[in-house]
Amino acid sequence: MSALSIATAKEVFDLLRDDLAAIEQEFTRQSASEVDVITDIAQYLMAGGGKRIRPLLLLLSSKALGCTSHSRIRLGAVVEMLHTATLVHDDIIDEADTRRGRPSSNTTWGNAKCVLAGDWLYMQSFSTALEERNFRVLELLISLTQQMVEGELLQMQKLGRLINEEEYFDLIFRKTACLFSVSMQLGAAITGASDEIESQLGEYGRNLGLAFQIVDDMLDLTAAEDILGKPVASDLREGKATLAVIHALERGTGADREAIRTVLAERSFTTVSHPRILEILERHGSIAYAMDTACAYAEAARLSIADLPHSEAKRALLWVPGFVTSRDR
Ligand code: IPE
Ligand code: IPE
Ligand code: MG
Ligand code: MG
Repeated sequence: MSALSIATAKEVFDLLRDDLAAIEQEFTRQSASEVDVITDIAQYLMAGGGKRIRPLLLLLSSKALGCTSHSRIRLGAVVEMLHTATLVHDDIIDEADTRRGRPSSNTTWGNAKCVLAGDWLYMQSFSTALEERNFRVLELLISLTQQMVEGELLQMQKLGRLINEEEYFDLIFRKTACLFSVSMQLGAAITGASDEIESQLGEYGRNLGLAFQIVDDMLDLTAAEDILGKPVASDLREGKATLAVIHALERGTGADREAIRTVLAERSFTTVSHPRILEILERHGSIAYAMDTACAYAEAARLSIADLPHSEAKRALLWVPGFVTSRDR
């Protein structure tokens, strides 16, 4: 496959503009509740923006298989609603105070209301998906939700601990890559594609999702909060060891390892500063290692769809991995 067959950002946006606008409308329609606070929280998060990468994947997957029905719009809204519900819950769990460049919903409405609004959004996304009358769609969404909840719980059990790469990859698959994979598989499920095609598209989503979370974790360590739009250096403060940190732990001197252990155990930069940790990561090439790993998964995503027939949507799918690894928020 030559580099020329990869789309540009403008081409992707032009290809999807109308569908993405329709998904926003569907999301607004589906998130209207008789109870104002639910609608308010859903609309607040939606208005905050967000990359809409999961609906984008669903659209490209279904377009690559020739889907023209309303199902792609409906399920595009489903995956974004589901994602929104996980953000509402995640910010409560992580005690985050910003999201999408604004105060997080838990900061504005409090934890109690946000837990319930998140539950409502989850169920609304299932109720919307039910309109498809397609058991495969429900099967994918149910096992996804269980994986994501298990991922959050496993992560909690490992907080403050020095996990290895295998444990890290299991966590990021569950909490992030699984939804990327399902967004791709849903495109196959609504077009009646073969199991083989569904599995290739799912593999693309898995590889891309792993790359996406590695980059998210890297940005957490290196980005500025005003660009990222959410708290930075929060993973270490929450006791989470991510890929670059795991790499440095395996290669660092005794003093380096001790410094990282201290931050993870104290869950703060009180004794050891954030710049000191960054210096350790830089000295061992750990940030570059994490980026290289993300780029390898991005390339694996491209290879996963090598058998897909040529189309505009396929060219767009070949563009997405580069977007994921070069993003700054
Ligand atoms: C945030 O996802 C949660 C992670 C899986 C890291 P996004 O980075 O896609 O968030 P938005 O939707 O663009 O705000
Ligand atoms: C993302 O994990 C997991 C979700 C399912 C939301 P993070 O905790 O790293 O996500 P951010 O960084 O808060 O967006
Ligand atoms: Mg979080
Ligand atoms: Mg993060």
